[in-house]
Amino acid sequence: MKDKDYDISWDEWDELHDPRPDEQDFDRVVKAAMSRRGFLGGVVALGSGAAVMGMGPLLPGSSAKAAGEASRFAFKAIPIYTDSTVHVPEGYNWYELAKWGQPLFSGTAELDHATGGSVEASGKVFGENTDGMELFNVGGHELIAVNHEYVNPKINLPQNEGGKPATAEDVLKLQNLQGVSVFEIVEQDGKWQIALDSPYNRRITNHTPMAITGPAAGHDLLKTQADPEGREVLGTSNNCGAGRTPWGTYLTCEENFNGYFGSTDAEYALSAEFKRYGIGLESRYDYDKFDSRFDISKNPNEPNRFGWIVEIDPSDPNSKPVKRTALGRFKHENAATAVAPDGRIIVYLGDDERGEYLYKYVSNGIYTPGGDTSALLDDGQLFAARFNEDGTGEWIALTPETTGGMDPAQILIHTRLAASKTGATTMDRPEWVAVNPYAVEAYCALTNNKNRGVKPNAGGDETPVGGPNPREANNYGQIVRWYPENDDHADASFRWDLFVMAGNPGVHQDSYAGSANINEGNLFNSPDGMMFDSAGLLWIQTDGNDSNEGDFVGMGNNQMLAGDPATGRIERFLTGPKGSEVTGITWSSDKRTMFVGIQHPKAPFPDGEGKLARSTVIAVRRDDGGLVG
Ligand code: FEO
Ligand code: CA
Ligand code: CA
Ligand code: CA
Repeated sequence: MKDKDYDISWDEWDELHDPRPDEQDFDRVVKAAMSRRGFLGGVVALGSGAAVMGMGPLLPGSSAKAAGEASRFAFKAIPIYTDSTVHVPEGYNWYELAKWGQPLFSGTAELDHATGGSVEASGKVFGENTDGMELFNVGGHELIAVNHEYVNPKINLPQNEGGKPATAEDVLKLQNLQGVSVFEIVEQDGKWQIALDSPYNRRITNHTPMAITGPAAGHDLLKTQADPEGREVLGTSNNCGAGRTPWGTYLTCEENFNGYFGSTDAEYALSAEFKRYGIGLESRYDYDKFDSRFDISKNPNEPNRFGWIVEIDPSDPNSKPVKRTALGRFKHENAATAVAPDGRIIVYLGDDERGEYLYKYVSNGIYTPGGDTSALLDDGQLFAARFNEDGTGEWIALTPETTGGMDPAQILIHTRLAASKTGATTMDRPEWVAVNPYAVEAYCALTNNKNRGVKPNAGGDETPVGGPNPREANNYGQIVRWYPENDDHADASFRWDLFVMAGNPGVHQDSYAGSANINEGNLFNSPDGMMFDSAGLLWIQTDGNDSNEGDFVGMGNNQMLAGDPATGRIERFLTGPKGSEVTGITWSSDKRTMFVGIQHPKAPFPDGEGKLARSTVIAVRRDDGGLVG
């Protein structure tokens, strides 16, 4: 039996199963790289806070200079760790809040480490691979909505050879461990814990009915035998980052949905659209062999019903989640909202694959607190970002005119193909976007891209070195920031700079050393999760190479750092256990507890040797009970 490669990352899996052509317009790449390297060398060497074009005057001269200024950091930075537990600064402590397999309802068994739990329990427990989350206070009740990104079959099906699903029951169990959990938490003896059986507690899985709305709803490409109207789908899948609306709903983002689909017919002809989205004949999890909904030779439109932003009302456990097609279909990372001065709603959206695009949605309607919000995410315009070398940029509307005549529904269903026609900028894997609550600016983590300047993206679009993607074969990542013109997130123009380029000044002297705000004390790679706290600090979570060797020496395990948007200073706050990614962050309403996701740790985290590893949401607080965000 062929190894299903459960241990490799999603981007590696896509690369293996859908290799991209090697050709590239090398002349253009080299030219762009030369000019860009000159600029970067200047920035790295200057290190004096000079207003170098593209980096902007806000980037700090050095962390030493920043440290001399009034500190906004209430903690003492921690060193790297390479061990199997979580570390936080002196004066802080952490404990477990929720971990994979933990019951949300009484009468459900605790996790059986021999079996990974029963299929009956799988839809009533905290799911696998915790990711984006948000806390909502509903009538005094503290509710957390949290994503379960994917499954780890070797851990979830420990009795199966190689973790391979062998029955329809195995597949159902894996499907139930995905989706979203909503649960109430209560504070007892100074610690938050899950409120078992709270009427708000809810599991949303691969089988939960959801509505499809917006301009693509009812389109032929969304119709299936089970849903001839193309307006209702079962389940949400591969929920990665998240977001929240001003009206108190949760946005969950479907990312690597392609890996669940496959074909039992080896001769099935794949369309160009399927290829662009990484949908192939071989599924990563064999769902297609036991659940024909995931067999593209039998249900060729089912994949078109995934890859959307889903809105969930956490205050009503009986509410039907809604897939909002106006926000486009791609490998959605998160959904960061902002409100324009005139009340229009903006949603920033990244498509996390090498050389894909950064998007923004602007509603046509106006948000008024307490008003009707039902159409705000159905009626609006989607844009893709173009970054210019001179530090300016534009949002290009995806319309029939800009996309070579694609109709409005096709633009939303095959958004990647639409964006490719517009001259938008291919990016180094856009992960989370964070909107600064104190300044009209937004940030996007560009996690890494080994193909930058090496290979085109999945659609054959070139990925030249330059702009906010300034390094060839970028293995460290960077965070781009943009300032909308007229202090209006709905404006079509912006200026941009790089808040930070991760790097390793101990290993490299060129641009791979990183920007001036990288130093021996805050080394990291592959920024991914990002969120502003209520004090205006930017929290940065990493999902990168934790080998602590070679280019990555001195970086240790994946981690969470805090960045000051005003000075560029960045300090390490938390380190995760070996093998894990730190992803997802939210706060209790009183801001005295911070909740942080630890995804795909290796044993012995958190239950000890001989037990299954469990993705876990931890709570972090100050020993003195002070504010943590
Ligand atoms: Fe699920 Fe792009 O991280
Ligand atoms: Ca991520
Ligand atoms: Ca990532
Ligand atoms: Ca992940």
